[in-house]
Amino acid sequence: MPGVVTRSACLLGFGNVGRRFCELVARKGDELADEHGLRVVFAAVGTAAHGSLLASSGLTAAEVLAAAASGDEPGTFPYPVRSGVELLAASGADLLIEATPLDPHGGRAAIAHLEAGLAHGMDVITVNKGPIAWDYRRLAALAAAGGRRLLFEGAVMDGCPIFSLFRSCLPGCRLLGFEAVFNSTTNYILDALGEGVGFADALARVQAAGYAETDPSHDIDGHDAAAKTAALANVLMDAGLTPDDVPKDSIRDLTAERVAGARAAGRRLRVVCSAAFGERPTARGDRSAARGKRPAGHVAAAAAAPVRAAVRLTELGPEHALFSATGSTLSALLFTDLMGTVQVAERDALPDQTAYAIYADLLAIHEGR
Ligand SMILES: NC(=O)c1ccc[n+]([C@@H]2O[C@H](COP(=O)([O-])OP(=O)(O)OC[C@H]3O[C@@H](n4cnc5c(N)ncnc54)[C@H](OP(=O)(O)O)[C@@H]3O)[C@@H](O)[C@H]2O)c1
Repeated sequence: MPGVVTRSACLLGFGNVGRRFCELVARKGDELADEHGLRVVFAAVGTAAHGSLLASSGLTAAEVLAAAASGDEPGTFPYPVRSGVELLAASGADLLIEATPLDPHGGRAAIAHLEAGLAHGMDVITVNKGPIAWDYRRLAALAAAGGRRLLFEGAVMDGCPIFSLFRSCLPGCRLLGFEAVFNSTTNYILDALGEGVGFADALARVQAAGYAETDPSHDIDGHDAAAKTAALANVLMDAGLTPDDVPKDSIRDLTAERVAGARAAGRRLRVVCSAAFGERPTARGDRSAARGKRPAGHVAAAAAAPVRAAVRLTELGPEHALFSATGSTLSALLFTDLMGTVQVAERDALPDQTAYAIYADLLAIHEGR
């Protein structure tokens, strides 16, 4: 098609998010071409145990979905599983999309995928927060050295623009700290416990809805929230943290009595992620920062201090700006030097929104934003 650029993608991970991204491209293919001058084909698709696809000439999204449906077992590709690194090297793709599960203990497999993609001259989009939480500085430097893009909008708030908010809409503005509810699985379980639903039933429901992590203990024990906290602090506060630096509370042993007690008092328990320069944040809402009343010179002094972060089970009253984060609603209070407090929220933290984050990153790369 004249005037239309074709990007050839290697997609690693064809689960809740990877599959929905394919469906989105299949649905929006004409619009991508007509309005944005972009066509996306798939040179390879990889999974851990559901086969693979390799077609260097590039399959359309519809052809990938048809291939997944055509195997003996629905959702399984016809070719044997190959390692992600092997697949992306053989694919000849110019774009890597990483949608494999979080490894909360170092993120090594996904980091190797990103490294290999960059080494092969690919632009990289990841919704896997592991690499950004564990190794952001090095990976960003690798991308910059090779003149490639590394984008990860879906790593922290699904499709809600938190990284591109700063990149595109708040030029020159610095993030001084944040408080946020970043994990919808624990929201849902905490809400359900308050309504008298047992822990196991609540977890089964959230898994059926597709927004629990592949291993839900990563949500329950705070690994997902700690990885998101480290990722956001690393990118927007140059924190140099890993998830191991973020102390975290688990909701595993929470009693129904404690949840009911908070509820009876008109309050809610939430898993609150926070970070700040210098002090261990307490997740109570920084009112002075919220009103932009930090003393002169505070920003420079604060930015020189190390970033401290935490994931804490916190009781919030209705006056707190994060009180409304229930179910699949995520919300973040972003304390900035030039814009006071900016609050962002998404009501539907679901795989469709994460698939959209890949789509948005793809357009940002295509349009040089
Ligand atoms: N679900 C959400 O709403 C959401 C929101 C934000 C971010 N994310 C992030 O997005 C990523 C994907 O989430 P998901 O919900 O789509 O997970 P998922 O449904 O469990 O799917 C994961 C996919 O990755 C494949 N996979 C696992 N290890 C692999 C490897 N080493 N190489 C190639 N493929 C591999 C799996 O294959 P098998 O099926 O064969 O095991 C599966 O196709 C995760 O990092 C998650 O944290 C998800």
